[in-house]
Amino acid sequence: MNITKADNLACPIDGNRLEQTENQYVCENGHTFDIARQGYVNLLPVQHKRSKQPGDSKAMVLARTRFLDTGIYQAIAIKLAETVSSIIIDDDDGCFLDAGCGEGYYFDFLFNSLKDREDAGKLSFIGLDISKDAVLQASKRNRQISWVVGTNRQLPVEDESVDIIQCLFGFLSVEGFNKALKPGGTIILVDPGPDHLKELREIIYPEVSKTKQSALAQMELADFSPEGTERLQFKTTVTNSEQINHLLMMTPHFYRASKEGREAVGKLDELDITVDVIFRVFKKI
Ligand SMILES: C[S@@+](CC[C@H](N)C(=O)[O-])C[C@H]1O[C@@H](n2cnc3c(N)ncnc32)[C@H](O)[C@@H]1O
Repeated sequence: MNITKADNLACPIDGNRLEQTENQYVCENGHTFDIARQGYVNLLPVQHKRSKQPGDSKAMVLARTRFLDTGIYQAIAIKLAETVSSIIIDDDDGCFLDAGCGEGYYFDFLFNSLKDREDAGKLSFIGLDISKDAVLQASKRNRQISWVVGTNRQLPVEDESVDIIQCLFGFLSVEGFNKALKPGGTIILVDPGPDHLKELREIIYPEVSKTKQSALAQMELADFSPEGTERLQFKTTVTNSEQINHLLMMTPHFYRASKEGREAVGKLDELDITVDVIFRVFKKI
């Protein structure tokens, strides 16, 4: 594969194509966006923010990095890479976008699994998240990916310029994804299945409900055809209290749990967990 830098980033203010200079992106109306020392660009203007520091906090980002770097979730990354590999057609050029990439673990893994393919196509990678702390952390993983602070609601890319959007445990914006995706393009949604981390939830909550599945209904209402669903399930053990704490912090349960629930998790030295993840592939009609 030939890896190229993304050339389809668009101005978040007027939608015009952005040209890259040495240390900035510029649109034809003169809006400029500095490239940070770490290599990422912030394309989230204040008017697109709903809070001062949107998205995951620095503490959540670091907890996620520490947990994911243990490799406990590597099977999810492998499954994602297999899914993408089966979609790419040899020698095609393509732009991948990870919408809500977090601290970049999955996108970096995907990049590394594709980069040595022998096909002649040109690939570009855009990792985007609304959290500046997440994007900053992601940019330390891989300098060849274009890391962007932005929102899934209004993806700062040219209309119909992306081939594959992946969204893992993230914020689905059917409208935003539809606008960015080429006709015939693919969306891969990866969401928790009904039993995901049920052991952790049993400790935190007095009553455990099955994780709700809402993304599917939203996608079917829009112009997407479902191309397949696969479920990845496995059991594993988190073997120390630090990792258990990192796992809790990287999930929404950290904020939803009561003080007692968090304390109960804090006392554990070992936790058996069920990982239950659903992969759904949709094609834009
Ligand atoms: C549960 S984390 C998942 C991160 C990553 N996909 C992973 O699986 O490791 C959800 C991510 O979505 C980001 N996020 C939340 N709202 C967003 C939005 N409107 N646009 C883009 N990212 C968003 C958060 O900052 C966070 O990094």
